[in-house]
Amino acid sequence: MTDKVNESRRNLLIATSAVGAIGVGFAAVPFIKSWMPSERAKAAGGLVKANVSKLESGQKLQVKWRGQPIFIVKRDKVLLDTLPELDGRLKDPKSEDSIQPEFAKNLHRSQKEELLVMVGICTHLGCSPKVYPEIVPQAFDADWKGGFFCPCHGSTFDISGRVFKGSPAGTNMVIPPYVYVDENNLIIGTDKLEGGA
Ligand code: FES
Repeated sequence: MTDKVNESRRNLLIATSAVGAIGVGFAAVPFIKSWMPSERAKAAGGLVKANVSKLESGQKLQVKWRGQPIFIVKRDKVLLDTLPELDGRLKDPKSEDSIQPEFAKNLHRSQKEELLVMVGICTHLGCSPKVYPEIVPQAFDADWKGGFFCPCHGSTFDISGRVFKGSPAGTNMVIPPYVYVDENNLIIGTDKLEGGA
């Protein structure tokens, strides 16, 4: 499969997934009351809903949150199994100097292991890296295990968004606050739900 075909397959769901900003119309979304974001989060605005039910391994769904691209990438066990072996090649393997909610300060940098939710902006100078989920040698890394490559100045990140040594970027990609409202739907912009049915 050519790179071009891969790229279009990865980005297929950007255009087709049911994604929308949550604002005044949020009350119309059929979540039960106990799954609503907190009043404080709604007041702060900028909540975005994403449906991940059609994502397959290696595919990326992209939504916009507060003017930033948010990458949602599905990872299978093969990709996740690469993560523990990479520590020695990474600048911040434990994400101690990087930005993420407390729940994502772990190896997979996410709530659910298989789903990465990440701000799609390079921590060097703000370009948007591309996902290369295949575990195959790449021109920029002969020992590539799947991850993200920033074409602007060559920073590389693993499939959890952790930055490799030798990259101009200094820290891992940023993880935004988010929360699942059910198995296939999440809200980006808050990590808290409140209320009771
Ligand atoms: S902006 Fe990504 S490497 Fe410079």
